Amino acid sequence: MHPDVEKVLLSTAELKNKVTELGQILSRDYAGKNLLAVGILKGAMVFMADLIRNISVDVQIDFMAVSSYGASSKSTGVVRIMKDLEQNIEGRHVLIVEDIVDTGLTLNYLLEILKAREPASVRVCTLLDKPSRREVDVSVNYNGFSIPDEFVVGYGLDYNEKYRNLPEIYVLKKEVYQK
Ligand code: PRP
Ligand code: MN
Ligand code: MG
Repeated sequence: MHPDVEKVLLSTAELKNKVTELGQILSRDYAGKNLLAVGILKGAMVFMADLIRNISVDVQIDFMAVSSYGASSKSTGVVRIMKDLEQNIEGRHVLIVEDIVDTGLTLNYLLEILKAREPASVRVCTLLDKPSRREVDVSVNYNGFSIPDEFVVGYGLDYNEKYRNLPEIYVLKKEVYQK
């Protein structure tokens, strides 16, 4: 285990089982719909890569990258689009793929932007949900795990851009982010 982590929160086996299960549910729900899965960079990339390999119906992929506006952003919920979709989503069945929903501000903004483009549907699939941190009411359609309010890293999730490469999901040691 990496020396900066305190414990494993979700193991490789737990992640694999959940991603398999989500893939099966999505394959059933999106049969015949030509799904467009939209991964939100960078955190969702590992989950997205595993998830699409567990979807057995037709699926196209695209990515968006968003960044909050400075320190006040987390309270205003305004995010800047750093990378937009490559295609028109009008009439498409869009699934936003996130690694974690925390305050919900990022997702709330993304949903607003994407709904304005008149897709046939927009739903959200997140690996992790921290409901106790929610600041805006945002609906998550597919959730892997609801987790307590602990600082988690790995499997795409970072702290200061580190630990995205770790294979499982871990709780970060407090001294790492408190110093
Ligand atoms: C993280 C995470 C979600 C968002 C959730 O991304 O990947 O996208 O924050 O937080 P919220 O619900 O409070 O808005 P981050 O902005 O850290 O970028 P990253 O994915 O590149 O790490
Ligand atoms: Mn993110
Ligand atoms: Mg981050």
